[in-house]
Amino acid sequence: MIAKKSDALVFFGATGDLAYKKIFPALQEMIRRGTLDVPVIGVAKAGWGIEQFRERARKSLEEHGGIDKAAFAKLMTLLRYVDGDYRDDATFTALRKELGGTRSPAHYLAIPPSMFPSVVQGLGKSGCSKGARIVVEKPFGRDLASARSLNAVLHEVFDEDSIFRIDHYLGKLPVLNIVFFRFANTFLEPFWNRNYIRSVKITMAESFGVAGRGRFYEEAGAIRDVIQNHMLQVVGLLAMEPPIGGDDDALRDEIVKVLKSVRPLSQDDLVRGQFIGYRNEEGVAPDSKVETFAAIRLFIDTWRWEGVTFYIRAGKSLPVTATEVIVELREPPQKVFSGRTFEYGKGNYVRFRLGPDVAIAVGANVFRGRGIQGPQGETVELVISSLPAGEEMGPYGNLLSEAMAGNGLLFNREDGVEAAWRVVEPILGTPAPPHGYEPGTWGPIEANDLIASHGGWEDPKGDA
Ligand code: BG6
Repeated sequence: MIAKKSDALVFFGATGDLAYKKIFPALQEMIRRGTLDVPVIGVAKAGWGIEQFRERARKSLEEHGGIDKAAFAKLMTLLRYVDGDYRDDATFTALRKELGGTRSPAHYLAIPPSMFPSVVQGLGKSGCSKGARIVVEKPFGRDLASARSLNAVLHEVFDEDSIFRIDHYLGKLPVLNIVFFRFANTFLEPFWNRNYIRSVKITMAESFGVAGRGRFYEEAGAIRDVIQNHMLQVVGLLAMEPPIGGDDDALRDEIVKVLKSVRPLSQDDLVRGQFIGYRNEEGVAPDSKVETFAAIRLFIDTWRWEGVTFYIRAGKSLPVTATEVIVELREPPQKVFSGRTFEYGKGNYVRFRLGPDVAIAVGANVFRGRGIQGPQGETVELVISSLPAGEEMGPYGNLLSEAMAGNGLLFNREDGVEAAWRVVEPILGTPAPPHGYEPGTWGPIEANDLIASHGGWEDPKGDA
């Protein structure tokens, strides 16, 4: 167990896409917020020197979030660069030299998982792993077996306390707010169970396609890309029991318990879709069967959730970009005002808007008055909290700061990753081709049949 804060940040994949879009902006943000003041060493094989690397950082920030003069100047003084192949011992010798007298570096692997073993072994052999932490990006494996072997590779050099597996959803404030809101208030708990909740509906909609990531997507598909990780973490937070005690493992224990109680999915619980045009993307096979949309139905076999259906749908090229959870309550036992044509409105619900803007709201029915048809009710929303997009530190800044401080709370544990793979394993590699859908629609209509008995999907509002 390393108690100290990391005294250097090393990131592999420094010239890659993730670094360009997310990591440089996160580093600048961390400096602005005072959570980064140690050398930052980029490693990649590009034949570059430090000047090209600095230039890359500048371009990244110009394109993603803008340059903050003071923080950027500081970043320039912290950046170092090591060029080399991850399979070459010399790269790690050079890194060891660059690390100088640092004693507890954090190594962040923003690289494809196929490269993990070489880097981990390189770190081990060169001594760069001594006193170090390791932070790894998703995807963490592509099924249960590969996740297990990846864990074994990491454990050859690092112990579990020094491994930080990123699911960037856990670094998002609105996602964490699900747990905070549930357990920092008393009014929710009495109805947060099978007696009052009828269904939970989660939509993760993205209005863009695969955005140049066709090759990656062919290997992944929506189930591996966002359901096995981001969406199941959200389910874990919505469904967990109150954590006991305040250490990092208390919360993670409860998430893992939920994931272990999710009934493994079956083909009957799944509808896959592929947007029309996907097969013309670069790197995509002309007869690809990979899904860009998935809708699933899942059940949690616990005392609290028996009989409550959880629905998840996630897809690319949908009408809007928005992620939202609707927790629907059961109807009142009697419609006491339902005489003639009295309209009740929708049932009660709790809405968690997780992005791009953030909100927690409750839907309730009120009496609207007497219309032409007779007395009428309507559903109104009580907005408990809302925040425009982009108000807080992005997830990568949060997560890297936490990992460097040695706080494991926001990271996936080995048992959690494996439990999540166990849930989706039966629906990986479905032989039937996905249903086609037009870009800009809510996916294949077959996804509506899956949820028909619970009144259909709730389409989140948002901009295309
Ligand atoms: C990533 C997926 O993990 O999450 C992407 O690989 C997806 O396909 C992204 O677009 C969504 O994250 P966010 O934070 O924009 O909701």
